[in-house]
Amino acid sequence: MMAPAPPAGETLTVLGIETSCDETAAAVVQRAGDGSGRVLSNVVRSQWEEHRSFGGVVPEIAARAHVACLDDLIAEALRTAGVEFAALSGIAATAGPGLVGGLVVGMVTGKTLALAGAKPFLAINHLEAHALTVGLTEGLQPPYLLLLVSGGHTQLLLVRGVGRYERLGTTIDDALGEAFDKTAKLLGLAQPGGPAVERAARDGDERRFDFPRPLMGRADPHFSFAGLKTAVRRRAADLVPLSQQDVADLCAGFQAAAMDAVADRVGRAMTIAEDRLGPAAPRRLVVAGGVAANKRLRAGLDTLVTTRGYSLHIPPAALCTDNGAMIAWAGAERLARGSVDGLDAPARPRWPLDAHAPPAIGAGVKA
Ligand code: KG4
Ligand code: ZN
Repeated sequence: MMAPAPPAGETLTVLGIETSCDETAAAVVQRAGDGSGRVLSNVVRSQWEEHRSFGGVVPEIAARAHVACLDDLIAEALRTAGVEFAALSGIAATAGPGLVGGLVVGMVTGKTLALAGAKPFLAINHLEAHALTVGLTEGLQPPYLLLLVSGGHTQLLLVRGVGRYERLGTTIDDALGEAFDKTAKLLGLAQPGGPAVERAARDGDERRFDFPRPLMGRADPHFSFAGLKTAVRRRAADLVPLSQQDVADLCAGFQAAAMDAVADRVGRAMTIAEDRLGPAAPRRLVVAGGVAANKRLRAGLDTLVTTRGYSLHIPPAALCTDNGAMIAWAGAERLARGSVDGLDAPARPRWPLDAHAPPAIGAGVKA
C-alpha cells in the first residue's frame, strides 16, 4: 500500500530481518537523503551445524533455530549500530520466497516490533533485496542486467527500476549453488559445498574430464545443471576409490563446465537486454547471491564483460550471501518511495519477482 513518502532529503534508518532459509540475520542500514546507503550493523548466524547430520536444510529445525536466536540478533544489531529502537524509521522483514516456517518467524517478529513502536512495516522480497544490494554497496541505480546465483535461485533479470523486474532466464532443474552442494556431497566434501568444491578445484586439472556445458548456445538464457551433476556422479563412480587428485580434478571439471555454461547464458541475456533497453542504455552486469563469491565465476565473467563492453559489479561476499543488510536496504528504498505494507501482509513461500515471466522449457521450473 502507498503511504505519504517521507520528506525528500530525510535520512532513513531501517532494521532488516532475514529468516527465509538457514541463516538468521538482522542488520541496521541508513539511507541518506541523497539516496546513498551505509551499513551500521550486519549480524548473521548460520545454522549449518544444526543441519549438518541431515545433509541438507530441514525446514522444521530451521524455523526453531530462527525462533531461538532472532531476538538476540536484533538486539545485537541495534547495539552494534549504536541506534536506539525509537530512532528507527521502519522495520523490514523477508516475506518470501523461502521456507514458510522461517518466513513466519521473521514476519511475526518484524510486525510485532512495528506495531509496538508504531513504525512502518516493509514485507520484502528476498530476490529484490539481492537485486538492489549494489545500490547500497556502490550507489549503482537501475537499469542493469542481474545474474542471481544462490543455493535456491539461478536467474537472469533485467532490473529496470525499484519494483520493475523482467525475468529473462531461470533454471529448469537445480540452482547453481544447489549443484555445487550436491557435487560436494557426492564427493564427500563438507557443506556448504560451494566453497569446498572451489577449494578442492584449486589443485585440480579442469581439462582432465570433458563434462557437458548444459544448454550452451540455446537462444533463451535458461540454465540446467542436473545433467552435469549426473555426469560428475558417473565419472566418480567409474573411478572409485577416489584419490585426492581425482576429487580435485572432478571439482575443477565440474566448476569449469558450470561456469562456462553460465557465461554463455549471460552472453545471451546481454543481447536481449541490449535489445530491450536500447543502444543508449549503460552496459552493466551485476552478480548477486552466494555463488557470486566464486573466483572461477568471476574470471569467466571478467572475460565476457570485457568482450562485450560491460562493467561488472559484485557486492562484497558478506553482502552476496544471505544477510539482513540487503533486506533493510530494500526496505529503505521502498520506504523512501512511500511504499509500505500492512500488518496483514502474508508470508509468501513462492514469490517470483516477475509474475508475468513465461515458463522456462522443461518440467519442474522454479519461479
Ligand atoms: O545466497 P546464499 O547465501 O543463500 C541462498 O539464498 O541460497 O547462497 C548459498 C549458496 C550455497 O549453495 C553455497 O554452496 C553457494 O551459495 N556458495 C558458493 C560459494 N560460496 C557459497 N558456490 C560456489 N563457490 C563459492 N565460493
Ligand atoms: Zn539469497
